[in-house]
Amino acid sequence: MSKTITKSQALFERRKNAVANGVGVFNSATVKEAKGAIIIDEDGNELIDFAGGIGVVNAGHCPAPVVQAIKDQADKYLHTSFNVVTYEPYIELCEVLCDILPHGERTKAMLVSTGAEAVENAIKIARQATKKQGIICFTDAYHGRTMMAMTLTSKIDYKIDCGPFSPEVYRIPFPNFYRYGKGKSLDDFVESSLSELHASCKNLFDPNSIAAVIIEPIQGEGGFYAVPKKYFDGLREFCDEYGILLIADEIQSGFARTGNWASWQHYKVQPDLSTYAKSLGSGLPIAAVVGRAEVMDAAAGGTIGGTYIGSPLACAAALATIQYMKDINLNERAIEVGNIIMNRFEKIKQQFTEVGDIRGVGAMNAIEFVKNGDPNHPDAELCGAIVKGCLENGLIVISAGTYKNIIRILSPLVIEDDLLNKGLDIIENQIIEKIKLKI
Ligand SMILES: Cc1ncc(COP(=O)(O)O)c(C=O)c1O
Repeated sequence: MSKTITKSQALFERRKNAVANGVGVFNSATVKEAKGAIIIDEDGNELIDFAGGIGVVNAGHCPAPVVQAIKDQADKYLHTSFNVVTYEPYIELCEVLCDILPHGERTKAMLVSTGAEAVENAIKIARQATKKQGIICFTDAYHGRTMMAMTLTSKIDYKIDCGPFSPEVYRIPFPNFYRYGKGKSLDDFVESSLSELHASCKNLFDPNSIAAVIIEPIQGEGGFYAVPKKYFDGLREFCDEYGILLIADEIQSGFARTGNWASWQHYKVQPDLSTYAKSLGSGLPIAAVVGRAEVMDAAAGGTIGGTYIGSPLACAAALATIQYMKDINLNERAIEVGNIIMNRFEKIKQQFTEVGDIRGVGAMNAIEFVKNGDPNHPDAELCGAIVKGCLENGLIVISAGTYKNIIRILSPLVIEDDLLNKGLDIIENQIIEKIKLKI
């Protein structure tokens, strides 16, 4: 008798046969339809979505005004290339971005399609503006998979056999207080991290040859570690001392995730340039570089851009997304969602030494699993088992971290409290079950 397979399994079989193995896959979930914070799979099962397409659907799956805006735009024109024929949605989106993300007195923006592209363009703009080449980036950073972005990305698993990488890139330690601050106060830790940064000028790079420092103020793939405020202040001062531009990569942390349009707005540290993508377009590929007008304008004509820069459909989606986020006050909702998550995480942490740390800014929350309560002994096995168990119980959740030992929550922020708590129940039950199994 032949074994019956589900529609989801059949789709995965086709994936295996037709799609290159190198295309990453987190889990075995499929989708037929999605709305709000629910994904309905090929077999009609309802899954709660705590991954949000890796931080892309902060405004929910298929928000009605965004879908309508895409349809309306599709009826008008799909593509002219902004380089060839100018269209209003591109300009309006730049105006709105400059308004909500002011970089000093005058701000300008440019649009592309993906986060990695935004990063590539921010680096090109910084190099042209400073006439210098060096770039400083951080350990556990993630900036994408194109060649410069991949060079800036820290995790080796993402870059095996892909070199040679871009020259003139220098990586320094991200000030990760949880992992490396043992026995120190936060102030002492920041002080020693900043002295290390200054010491790098003697043993790693010539600061006068550096164009930019690129930092995720709250690391995404790296595990939701937030840069300490005093370090960020010190980094800004360091940049000013040597005429280096500060680039904030907000691709994962932006657009309401932390309760602000960008996480740097919490710190009150002004970057010279910043990058956005993901939840800006609610699923349509759109990304932006925003920055001080004089820096943005330093890029020579034709050196930044591409055929699809700021597709009209994606611009319409982004404009409708931002308006919708404003209308429903999504930044405020992120704080509420984050509070619910952190309260639940706090209770779990109190029970288990396996939970090394919980953290979050707004609704960018993570729970980190370690062995023997030791930050230097990540427990990827336990984390992986919990993530898998969650899916078996109807919750899509993804891990993060160089060691894959962290669960990150990127649920749509429009999620109702009941559904959020239902998802958190599943995580809590899985943590209890999998820890008991190990004991
Ligand atoms: C902080 C950060 N920068 C850049 C990227 C790359 O974006 P994309 O995957 O759209 O190229 C990501 C993607 O996860 C990211 O989280």
